Amino acid sequence: MTDTFELATLGVRAGQRRTEFQEHSEALFLTSSFVFDSAAQAAARFTGGEEGFVYSRFTNPTVSMFQDRLAALEGAGACVATASGMSAILATSMALLKAGDHVVCSSAVFGSTVTLYSGILAKFGVQTSFVSPTDVREWEKALRPNTKLLFLETPSNPLTDISDISALSGVAHKAGALLAVDNAFCTPALQRPLALGADLVIHSATKYLDGQGRVLGGAVLGSKALVMDGVFGFLRTAGPALSPFNAWVILKGMETLELRMLAQSERALELARWLERHPKVARVFYPGLESHPQHALAMRQQRAAGAVVSFEVKGGRAAAWKLIDATRLISITGNLGDVKSTITHPATTTHGRISAEARAAAGITEGLVRVAVGLESVADLRTDLERGLA
Ligand SMILES: Cc1ncc(COP(=O)(O)O)c(C=O)c1O
Repeated sequence: MTDTFELATLGVRAGQRRTEFQEHSEALFLTSSFVFDSAAQAAARFTGGEEGFVYSRFTNPTVSMFQDRLAALEGAGACVATASGMSAILATSMALLKAGDHVVCSSAVFGSTVTLYSGILAKFGVQTSFVSPTDVREWEKALRPNTKLLFLETPSNPLTDISDISALSGVAHKAGALLAVDNAFCTPALQRPLALGADLVIHSATKYLDGQGRVLGGAVLGSKALVMDGVFGFLRTAGPALSPFNAWVILKGMETLELRMLAQSERALELARWLERHPKVARVFYPGLESHPQHALAMRQQRAAGAVVSFEVKGGRAAAWKLIDATRLISITGNLGDVKSTITHPATTTHGRISAEARAAAGITEGLVRVAVGLESVADLRTDLERGLA
């Protein structure tokens, strides 16, 4: 199916397997284990001698449908589902790294990713260097003989920096390392990192794959060798599995993925253009704007610019909080990837636990506001923001 159908079709159809009841919609298998015809079959299933479902920590038909659909969308040889985006990053790292290895990571990744590499994995002897998401030379300079993994997120959160996936895959491969890309912001509807040279794609399915802010989930995609021989083994043993219920919710969410991503990107661009003209706004960060420093790169590697718009209001924290508190429609919440628009003050929430110096170095100012644009009318979103800007 992967070779012959386009993305819109794959989002709706790929991976579906019908039971003997011939249900039209994908079935939800809420079961922790599966029964066998005989002791011999049980033995064969456990050793892998016979294919089939065993136990939902590592095999479940609804989770398989989710994995197969996402693999088709990303053009990946294999996909394993995880309980959350963070457990996808953890599973990848635990499976592919060992004590003494070195990681080069973009400095503009999700806060918990920074903590995972700089805190938790450091405790187990994995060293990480953090570098600029946009300066390829910094990545080259950070390489060491023991560098095994390069990790990035593009566009970055919240400043929408764009990393050059194909250039950085060249850097990784020349050094004998792997490139992993967190594709949560774009999803395969807008960006397919494997086609650009990445070895692994990571997802927080909690975001746009679900699309309606209902459940947590994650996934790791790549070649069969990396994913099934590597990451799957860690997951099977350590157990941060995606629940079948969550897999089912996300599977249904993926049916509208392309429509949502294109429509939300269109609304985000319209809102970004309005904000850019607003006298109370000092600067807008959105890859779809010609003023964005990596606009050309974004338009080359993405199909649309995505739904996250950040902007700096004049007047620092007081002005940013006034704007946020004046909203009646947009939800004040840290999450994104929802059809309901959300608004956040990164300096005191998502990036509130890092030092003021680190925040300043990352460009997270007190006046910065992030809006993850949903599917409401842009006119209504403008009215909601104008109230606090006026
Ligand atoms: C880009 C990105 N990656 C990973 C994560 C972690 O995902 P989860 O919350 O599903 O663990 C997030 C979460 O907010 C994120 O924004």
